[in-house]
Amino acid sequence: MRPVLLQGGWVVDPASEREELADVLLREGCVAAVGRGLGTPDDALVIDCRGKVVAPGLIDLHCHLRDPGLTEKETIATGTAAAAAGGFTTVCCMPNTDPVVDSGSVVESILRTAAREGSVRVLPIGAVTKGQAGRELAELADLAAAGAVAFSDDGRPVASAALLRHALEYSQLVQRPIIDHCEEPSLTVGAVAHEGPVATCLGLRGWPAAAETIAIARDLELAALTGGRLHIAHVSTAGGVALIREAKRRGLPVTAEVTPHHLTLTDEWLLGEGLHWPALGGEPLPRRAPYDPRTKVNPPLRGREDVAALIAALADGTIDAIATDHAPHTLTDKLCEYDQAAFGISGLETALAAVLALVRSGALSLRRVIAAFSIGPRQVLGEGARAASPGRLAPGDPADVVVFDPDASWVVDPHAFRSKGQNTPLAGVRLQGRVTHTFVAGRGVHGE
Ligand code: DOR
Repeated sequence: MRPVLLQGGWVVDPASEREELADVLLREGCVAAVGRGLGTPDDALVIDCRGKVVAPGLIDLHCHLRDPGLTEKETIATGTAAAAAGGFTTVCCMPNTDPVVDSGSVVESILRTAAREGSVRVLPIGAVTKGQAGRELAELADLAAAGAVAFSDDGRPVASAALLRHALEYSQLVQRPIIDHCEEPSLTVGAVAHEGPVATCLGLRGWPAAAETIAIARDLELAALTGGRLHIAHVSTAGGVALIREAKRRGLPVTAEVTPHHLTLTDEWLLGEGLHWPALGGEPLPRRAPYDPRTKVNPPLRGREDVAALIAALADGTIDAIATDHAPHTLTDKLCEYDQAAFGISGLETALAAVLALVRSGALSLRRVIAAFSIGPRQVLGEGARAASPGRLAPGDPADVVVFDPDASWVVDPHAFRSKGQNTPLAGVRLQGRVTHTFVAGRGVHGE
């Protein structure tokens, strides 16, 4: 493999507390040096990074690769190609596949497929309960031994408090977090949109913020009771954020993630007109019809106050990580009545650019965003982070690197996605910030 010299970029590496103009030399799969004016080895490929940001390869704690069994929606090959195009060098994939990832053999088969077809590192997440059916704990130790980095019944909550209690107890033995999808199911029967004026106006069944806050409050009590490692998936409400902030103040072993769509979009996007995008700084958006099923996601897009609280919580560290919840679906799953459409947004290829809009608006620093995509996820994973990208650009680290042009402007065209999932509400929206190169262990997996 030829050495690569990333020359003259703005290096942002929160783990090394580095934010400066520098060169980065990749050699034999590792970062060989970071500094100004590094000499060019004779055989090196030199990439001009002036005007670009060079950062640790991004880590996605939460995506759906749909493999095995749902490969009409995505495969490990297409999902990891999408990840590479989005600047991710590690993705953790959720277990709601067919079969569900509830045994070591399914974990092993995902790892085998990823080694054969994957562009980036793939870390499987095992189910908390057998078949994600919520009745009986899965074999967590068997899953961990096979390589599961965390456990989750994502797509649905662990509704039984007793089962979650046991899972949190086991989480300590296997040193892996339990990632809960916080939703009190009795409050969300038939619900498709955030409960509030927008859902009322559109005649859609509302999903109250309390469905999330009740579940988070219960989970935090169980984390306190057991001392188990709890991670809250896709927090979406101001109330949820307040509970997590208070729990961290009490010293509970809890972490949390937020998605790019909950950070940047509101439920007003369901109305189609007069879209509110705090991130966008006033640029006109393409006109939309109401009831666009591409805005349908679980948990639902929330109100403006929720979005403001999520951004503040990410800025102050209450929220540890940005995770895409990349949820690809087929066109037929999505192009139907709002009530019938599948929940989910295809997010790997727009995540970084969407969040960079919040950097441009001054709401978040670039360093905080990169940290939330790199060291934040590693801290969530704890022991499981051993197989992840290093989230750092220090000599000797595996060379997992992203290079992006923060000013490059582009219009989201889902037909051009590497993902099979074209389901994004950002279709036709102009974003700023484009990944130009992604390296995994020094090997280019995406590049101009
Ligand atoms: O919108 C969502 N889609 N949220 C989830 O929790 C699951 C996901 C999926 O699997 O499609």
